[in-house]
Amino acid sequence: MSDNETNTTSALDTEIGRVVVEKNLATAEEVSECFTEQKRRADQDRRPLGEILVDKGVVTKNQLGRVVESLEDIRPAQQIPGYQILSRLGAGAMATVFKARQLSLDRLVAIKVLPKRYSEDPEYVERFYREGKAAAKLNHPNIVQAFDVGEAGGYHYFVMEYVAGHTVYDELFEGKVFTEADALRVTLQIARALAHSHERGLIHRDVKPKNIMITTNGTAKLADMGLARLAEDEQTAQAEAGKAYGTPYYIAPEQIRGEMNIDFRADIYSLGATMYHMVTGQVPFDAQTPVAVMNKHLSETLTPPDHVNTSLSVGLAEVVEVMMAKRPQDRYASTEDLLLDLESVARGEPPLQVHQMLDEKTLSTLAEDEQPEPEPEPDSEPEIVVNYNIIIYILLALLAISILGNIFQALK
Ligand SMILES: Nc1ncnc2c1ncn2[C@@H]1O[C@H](COP(=O)(O)OP(=O)(O)OP(=O)(O)O)[C@@H](O)[C@H]1O
Ligand SMILES: [Mg+2]
Repeated sequence: MSDNETNTTSALDTEIGRVVVEKNLATAEEVSECFTEQKRRADQDRRPLGEILVDKGVVTKNQLGRVVESLEDIRPAQQIPGYQILSRLGAGAMATVFKARQLSLDRLVAIKVLPKRYSEDPEYVERFYREGKAAAKLNHPNIVQAFDVGEAGGYHYFVMEYVAGHTVYDELFEGKVFTEADALRVTLQIARALAHSHERGLIHRDVKPKNIMITTNGTAKLADMGLARLAEDEQTAQAEAGKAYGTPYYIAPEQIRGEMNIDFRADIYSLGATMYHMVTGQVPFDAQTPVAVMNKHLSETLTPPDHVNTSLSVGLAEVVEVMMAKRPQDRYASTEDLLLDLESVARGEPPLQVHQMLDEKTLSTLAEDEQPEPEPEPDSEPEIVVNYNIIIYILLALLAISILGNIFQALK
């Protein structure tokens, strides 16, 4: 093997190691152990990192295959006309994102390239273009600006504003628990982004820490707006869980159920779950498998965030609980209402919208309780109430009298 080939192999191994950790398939320690194992051997019988990862059971063969496939995405990206690819920014379960220069405008952009298998679903491709175009019409400081959608060499891609910074996920992954003020600052900006797109009829459907970017000057930006998800039915949601979209820690119950008419309230739920994670340091529902996590979203009562982190204000906990109500109709009636409450809590005031909703609920429950007893049907038979206790007493008395009678008879 020439020097050149050795270098290429180790560069590929480095990339594989990085992506395996990035995709949460293994911990950094596990990968580093495999690298150590690799280095123990002499150059001539050095094994590729992928082989060691599979042998040690760190990843499965299929997982390794998907990682390698995602690395190959750089090839089509090199061929997107009008753009010069500069580097790879990262990869999610679904696609790879590259930093590039748009030659015509001489500006930096981020390009998300979908794997080829997405091109095989014409319905998905149609939605990808429709939603991409709708997102490109949005313009908001807290939304990663969508620029363009297109196809080159059989690969579909999505061009967007390049954001220098990191994601909320990166901070959570490092173990950060946000202060209430910091979490509110981020959540308020994302709620403003959502209010802007909801007003224009666009729902995000995948609000989560990985899709919230924080720029170097502290501005929060919602990423992947307009990036169509695959069809939303229960089967797809379950099949996607843990595969295409990662563990469903932030997904709304109605999305899990595969309801057809998902609306803005699904985004409110996911933003609530994201805020929950930020202020408590833990996801709202955790379990061994993605399906078990989804079942908890559907039916397990949420542990209030202020029970997990007792330093939180009651107001913030109330807001999160209403955002994460199981039934959409129990959540905020509009994203504007949510914004009003987030702003109140940020000022140290109570969330009036939540209180108003609770008052209305109490009133309607009281009204139900005060309903007069229904009148008996006029021609129905009068009900005969039998008191069994009295009958037993009478029988006992008769028995006693007869016993006494017998005793008297015997004494005579
Ligand atoms: N506009 C952007 N500017 C700069 N970096 C970006 C941009 N969009 C995405 N990235 C980087 O690329 C990474 C991969 O993004 P991608 O949307 O493919 O997956 P994800 O959102 O992290 O995870 P998932 O697989 O759950 O969707 C992000 O984590 C982020 O670091
Ligand atoms: Mg993303």
